[in-house]
Amino acid sequence: MTAPGPGAHLLVSGGAGFIGSCFVRDVLGRHDGTRITVLDKLTYAGNRINLGDVEVDAEMASRFTFVHGDIADASAVAPLAATADAIVNFAAESHVDRSILEPAAFLRTGVDGVHVLLEALRVETERAQRGERASIPRLLQVSTDEVYGSVAEGRSVEADPLAPRSPYAAAKAAGELLVRAYHVTYGLDVVITRGSNTYGPFHHPEKLIPLFVTNALDDLPLPLYGDGLQRRDWLHVSDHAGAIGHVLAHSAAGEVYNVPGSTELTNREVVERLLALLDKPWSLVRTVADRPGHDRRYAMDGRRLVELGWRNRVGFDEGLATTVAWYRDHEPWWRAARGGDWDAYYARQYAERLAMSSAADPNR
Ligand code: NAD
Ligand code: TYD
Repeated sequence: MTAPGPGAHLLVSGGAGFIGSCFVRDVLGRHDGTRITVLDKLTYAGNRINLGDVEVDAEMASRFTFVHGDIADASAVAPLAATADAIVNFAAESHVDRSILEPAAFLRTGVDGVHVLLEALRVETERAQRGERASIPRLLQVSTDEVYGSVAEGRSVEADPLAPRSPYAAAKAAGELLVRAYHVTYGLDVVITRGSNTYGPFHHPEKLIPLFVTNALDDLPLPLYGDGLQRRDWLHVSDHAGAIGHVLAHSAAGEVYNVPGSTELTNREVVERLLALLDKPWSLVRTVADRPGHDRRYAMDGRRLVELGWRNRVGFDEGLATTVAWYRDHEPWWRAARGGDWDAYYARQYAERLAMSSAADPNR
């Protein structure tokens, strides 16, 4: 086993996004000599400012390199893979609603991009086997509970079949299947994590919690899909990033680990709690047309990860309170994130829904 430890050089693809940037900040912040190269395409969801804490700290900056590029571009990936002890792949198009509007980019990054990373890993593994490099590199593919599809009862375990139901989830499942196939066929050192719904600072304001917090701060309507009784299990971003680091360091090759959250709630319950923290009224909430194919519930069994020695640290109430406070304190960040194609996306996703909406019944 070649699990990379302190002092390793990590290639972190998608490291300028929400979870990836938390991983980079946390790993470099341990000051254990680990070096990180981030490869990021800087889509609308990627932002170099998310890595600002690292870039302004001289010691962390000395162990950090940023490369603007695409994981689906083999010529960008190959030289970076050549010096990496491990690749941690966060890069993806990550929003289900956008995958319903325009799936193509999800397949390009989630399937072609993952394939390019695997081919680079294959080349580097063969070089290591010929003695041309010291370490056999590892790939950790960051995946999602959404690959299991909607789970009416019980909790998904790692051996359950994959049954994705959105283009986003299908692209993530396809990426995982390629990763597994390269392990079986070529003996590559790969591991997969399946994380639950994640929340926290630097989360792009298109997702439920940051969208509702930032809209509420502006007294704008909060578009709740359908009856709002869909259930999600919420995972703080620092726990998600920490679990990924733990699996990277301690897993055997070829393994898959669920990374569940700390609290399963309906969307309504989440909205009630964030409105209370913001001291805003329920009357902001509008019932709007549901997401097509909306998964009713995700829930995972986390026993394998606990057996590997990982436990979440942040409870939902504490995590939500600090997240709401962060958005209050970082208005320039989230206003800038609502740049680019935000207005066009928002109109496409919500204008008709809001025009046809009704006041959400507070008592369901
Ligand atoms: P995000 O959208 O905030 O960040 C994605 C990052 O990847 C961005 O910086 C973007 O610029 C970059 N990127 C996109 N395409 C790229 C490409 N082709 N080449 C290089 N970089 C590219 O997403 P996130 O919420 O941080 O999610 C990170 C990973 O975790 C994703 O793989 C996602 O599927 C997975 N995940 C997310 C959640 C969640 O709740 N957010 C839960 C489970 C798993
Ligand atoms: P989201 O944050 O998009 O994550 P995911 O689709 O990966 O679970 O959505 C979380 C839940 O919130 C999901 O059930 C859809 C719902 N939702 C709304 O009701 N309204 C919205 O505007 C958004 C973005 C999500």
